[in-house]
Amino acid sequence: MSEGVVRTYDENTVIIFDTTLRDGEQSPGATLTSAEKLEIARQLARLGVDVIEAGFPAASPDDLKAVQRIAREVGTADGPIICGLARSVENDILTCWEGVKDAKKPRIHTFLGVSPQHLEYQMGITQEQALERIRKAVTLAKSLCDDVEFSPMDAGRADMDFLIKVCALAVECGATTLNIPDTVGYVTPSEWYETIATLIAETPGAGKGSGIIWSVHCHNDLGMATANTLAGIQAGARQVEVTINGVGERAGNTSLEEVVMAIHTRQSAYAVRTNIDTRQIMKTSRLVSNYMGMPVQPNKAVVGANAFAHESGIHQDGVLKHASTFEIMTPESVGLSQSRLVLGKHSGRHALKVRLQELGFTVDDNQLKQVFERFKALADAKKVVTDADLEALITEETTKPQEFFKLLDIQVTCGTMGMPTATVRLASADGETFVHAAVGVGPVDAAYRAIDAVVKAPNVLLEYSVHSVTEGIDALGEVTVRISPPDSEKSFGGYGADGDIIVASVKAYIAALNRMLAVRGHGDVAPEGDAATVGVKTQ
Ligand code: KIV
Ligand code: ZN
Repeated sequence: MSEGVVRTYDENTVIIFDTTLRDGEQSPGATLTSAEKLEIARQLARLGVDVIEAGFPAASPDDLKAVQRIAREVGTADGPIICGLARSVENDILTCWEGVKDAKKPRIHTFLGVSPQHLEYQMGITQEQALERIRKAVTLAKSLCDDVEFSPMDAGRADMDFLIKVCALAVECGATTLNIPDTVGYVTPSEWYETIATLIAETPGAGKGSGIIWSVHCHNDLGMATANTLAGIQAGARQVEVTINGVGERAGNTSLEEVVMAIHTRQSAYAVRTNIDTRQIMKTSRLVSNYMGMPVQPNKAVVGANAFAHESGIHQDGVLKHASTFEIMTPESVGLSQSRLVLGKHSGRHALKVRLQELGFTVDDNQLKQVFERFKALADAKKVVTDADLEALITEETTKPQEFFKLLDIQVTCGTMGMPTATVRLASADGETFVHAAVGVGPVDAAYRAIDAVVKAPNVLLEYSVHSVTEGIDALGEVTVRISPPDSEKSFGGYGADGDIIVASVKAYIAALNRMLAVRGHGDVAPEGDAATVGVKTQ
């Protein structure tokens, strides 16, 4: 599957190494099923990333399987390199190879902590012992795979002379990419420039013309990940390790969209290029946000809901006169469509399919049928259906997990008189229906309690957010939720879109529950519901 992306390389190409599925998935709470990882990997391939770090195969048998599936299905000859992460230990490296070997272009990425903090406190080993581990790990990786990447973890706080020794050894043992991580987000842009420039100039066997690719991997603890990554490029790095929406450990990793759009928008400053199809950025951002159940902050650069919104009168006036007055990049360049859908309620399925294709969505017949029905209902209810509305509907349809339960009906009463009460009718996968009613502090709480009484999958609601897809009182509302089983740190996201925000809220919650059930197994289902029993949430 080539996804129509042609990747070309010269000395000014910055290789985009996406680690959304590895470091990104280490975000507190973010958990993806293997089907979702595959879908994200496919979209990353369409986006044009050069390398997908698909996971950490030794972490669990499921992680291994997910990496293998991505290697087989996305790692085609004209697709991206498929990479797996391994600690510098034999079993990790062997398992990593099992994960990636079926890709046409596999890579093993191995790492070891090299800062005094990591050597002394985390591993309790000397510099000499660290060098020995690196020698063994990189040599073993190279015996399995031509393409080997080595990362000296926590390089940002490491001793420079030792770092040079480590990098030279990794190259001697066969590493072809040296990735320099600021693991704890500690460095400043000028320091990082110095570090990378010094390493390139002084590491034996890895200087300019050696064929070794220098890479940077930054974390955002002090909000400097993008600036540090760009400083790395200016110092000569030609690979950057990034994630969609900047998801990742703690405050996250460098965000792909920020670095890519900085390179594209500020050619005069960076004079490098990437293989990214920037028009796929918004779609990728939404997919990752919805699957992970992690909403993007509205003022986030490039992909935030307000990134192209102009609020003040002066700004609006300027943009209407000429977009360049207050816009340094166009919304279209990141795949944000401003156009209005000219399909009406009498439009046919074919016209809808064509418009979806123009927006970059490929749908199967069943998805088209579902979206078409929703589109018709929306066109009835709203005067103007925008591309953004359509994108919300299709996102809900294409990110829907396996349905252990689905919503048939919901009715709520709420307001200042009486207790907020919700009645839900759900169907299980084998066609049984369940009816339950519950009261709560508000209509969403009541509805979630009624669902809990049927599904019986205890969880904690970590996050709930609602926002309107477009302006206007008749706008679609989209809801993102994240839930976690009480006994686990894993969390599961869900997304729902509807003109009625209670319905959107319920759809999002059921999607998250279905995702949790898919990973954790299906507990007891409530006995056949007798109408209007009042459920009480137990936790
Ligand atoms: O932040 C880090 O150091 C990492 C390495 C494994 C590359 O994620
Ligand atoms: Zn990292």
